[in-house]
Amino acid sequence: MRIVPFLTLVFLLPYLSGCAANVGTWDVVDKDALTETENTQYAAAEAARDELAKTLMARLAEGMKAGGPPTAIGVCKEAAPEIAATISRAMGLTIGRCSFRLRNPENAAPSWALPYVKSRRAESLILRNPDTGALATLFPIKVQAQCLPCHGPTDNIAPAVRAALISAYPEDSATGFNEGDLRGWFHVTVPATT
Ligand code: HEC
Repeated sequence: MRIVPFLTLVFLLPYLSGCAANVGTWDVVDKDALTETENTQYAAAEAARDELAKTLMARLAEGMKAGGPPTAIGVCKEAAPEIAATISRAMGLTIGRCSFRLRNPENAAPSWALPYVKSRRAESLILRNPDTGALATLFPIKVQAQCLPCHGPTDNIAPAVRAALISAYPEDSATGFNEGDLRGWFHVTVPATT
């Protein structure tokens, strides 16, 4: 019976002893050091980021115009994950948003991004996976004035908005931000191109 915990420890040891700092097999790579193939992957990641940012902002503006923040919250809840999934499928990559203070727990960061989420990395980041040829990127998202009705200091959030947020996201911790703060990241994983 004792052999099982022992074996578990043997298998876990490489991870416990510092490999975690390597983010598994993901290596940080400088933008200038990307290969030609990786440059294409990076361009795809940027294009996906631009598309998701643009589409979300447009939907948010539509929702705000239609009925203010309470309506826009509903739009974000339905549309945000769907838009990210559509872009991922269309472009053959995986894009999403994550944060150190989440509104929707389903926006949890992919495992390769966890150390950088924890350290609240404020600059863009590129990682390569030498085993699979995949490229992964984090693009920081800053809080702007128009984000404050739903992400600003809690006391400044209108009671109707607070109520709508709590009912849609009982575990919401994505308030209390100020303009210019780091809010989170777009994360994009681009598989090896064939
Ligand atoms: C009308 C309210 C509203 C406004 C305004 C708003 N958001 Fe959000 N935000 C939401 C909702 C609702 C979600 C959860 C979406 C989901 O379920 O994926 C969210 C989620 C996010 C997330 C994903 C991480 C998480 O916590 O789940 C980021 C990043 C984010 N918002 C950034 C912004 C930024 C930047 C702005 C301003 C440009 C902004 N938001 C404006 C309501 C809003």
